[in-house]
Amino acid sequence: MSESGIQESDNDCPSRRKQWSAVGNRVTVVLGAQWGDEGKGKVVDLLAQDADMVCRCQGGNNAGHTVVVDSVEYDFHLLPSGIINPKATAFIGACCTQHCIVLVSCFERCLQGWEGRLVISDRAHIGKYDPGKAVSNQRECLSARSAFSELCERVSLSPSSTVFDFHQAVDGVQEQQRQEQAGKNLGTTKKGIGPVYSAKAARSGLRICDLLHDFDQFSERYKGLAKHYKSMYPTVVIDVDGELAKLKSCMERIKPMVRDGVHFMHEALHGPPKKILVEGANAALLDIDFGTYPFVTSSNCTVGGVCTGLGMPPQNVGEVYGVVKAYTTRVGIGAFPTEQSNEIGELLQTRGKEVGVTTGRKRRCGWLDLVLVKYAHMINGFTAIALTKLDILDVLPEIKVGVVYNLDNQPIPHFPANQEVLQRVEVQYDTLPGWNSDTSAARRFEDLPENAQKYVLYIEEHLGVPVKWIGVGKSRESMIQLF
Ligand code: GTP
Repeated sequence: MSESGIQESDNDCPSRRKQWSAVGNRVTVVLGAQWGDEGKGKVVDLLAQDADMVCRCQGGNNAGHTVVVDSVEYDFHLLPSGIINPKATAFIGACCTQHCIVLVSCFERCLQGWEGRLVISDRAHIGKYDPGKAVSNQRECLSARSAFSELCERVSLSPSSTVFDFHQAVDGVQEQQRQEQAGKNLGTTKKGIGPVYSAKAARSGLRICDLLHDFDQFSERYKGLAKHYKSMYPTVVIDVDGELAKLKSCMERIKPMVRDGVHFMHEALHGPPKKILVEGANAALLDIDFGTYPFVTSSNCTVGGVCTGLGMPPQNVGEVYGVVKAYTTRVGIGAFPTEQSNEIGELLQTRGKEVGVTTGRKRRCGWLDLVLVKYAHMINGFTAIALTKLDILDVLPEIKVGVVYNLDNQPIPHFPANQEVLQRVEVQYDTLPGWNSDTSAARRFEDLPENAQKYVLYIEEHLGVPVKWIGVGKSRESMIQLF
């Protein structure tokens, strides 16, 4: 035995390890596997029905989920959509951005009693928030008022990033400059999300914890940031006193929801058994590091973003569900290898109602690209897949699936990082027979036409990941569960 007692502790190792290895609760994660708008909202809604806690780990109100419950359509932009479940607590993590004034004003209009039902991380940054769209649009806001009033008692926020009006103005000017200087913009949602994350990386951003700590200090830093933007973008109009006054008035209202997010999350993971759901916003190909840069969002929307966004260890990540649309869509510009700029693309766009929830922009459409989904799987390690919008393909006589990228007539084994290279790839397709019949009433795998079943099995086989759900319509019920 050594003096250090290593031998003794070796003997005790298994039991000691056991004693200290209690991982705690594991979170279930839902992530977009393409360019967003895969229908994550519906998958989240399904899983959130018995969740105790629903979380957003990244992004701002540049992403939008649509959930249809009892014929009421809810559009969510920052709140986790799982908050529709009246028993769930909502948590907005540190890597999210928010516009406090509008968050408060929308809650007050739509969500009575919201303080007890939302937790915001005090590390979240502050940014621009669109009042009309903060929770749901006005029409749904009014029709769903009673459901929301109950729901707002369960929301909580962590110390996250803050968006201001000038971030949104700067976003617009930057896009205009890109257009003028390079002949193309990034196609951002102009919600100010990019400028907030830029300020965060430049260490000049302002967070919820700064707002709540000392308003005079906060005001000084706010003025400094405003001055900085004004010197860079002289045309941007900034109402410094007006916005500061509004921030001060909403500060007290936000206070009860703000927690130290790391501590809050740790307690949730190591307390009594809990079902915790994490709603990814945006998607793998929009990830700042792994997406089709520069046409990406400003945060990590792959699985790593769950840990950095919520402040939790990787061993607490449980199931990782990838949401894959049965075809591919993309908003804005950027390379899109399987795009169909023809009647197929138009058909998918029209049948799929492919219009952005947040921007109202028409989405570009094309065949399912399995090279791209495989790449998303390499990063995220999906444990299962939710295949959405299969019903949109019901009328096609044959369906193509992109399976290999060729570059200069040679197949390449990877997904290209460089956008000019991605523009040049030629897609090799497999063609599968269509099913030419309505799948919207199917509720079991066996109810699907044989060719639709084959399409699903083909995808499973190609990716090496099981398909757990198949979407055949907009509503909650239109989801076939396979296991
Ligand atoms: P982002 O977070 O912005 O990427 O959004 P998302 O992935 O949640 O997708 P979103 O909810 O914006 O868009 C999906 C749209 O498709 C919504 O209108 C859904 O109601 C609808 N939808 C979802 N699944 C299906 C499906 O299986 N079939 C049909 N027909 N519509 C579906």
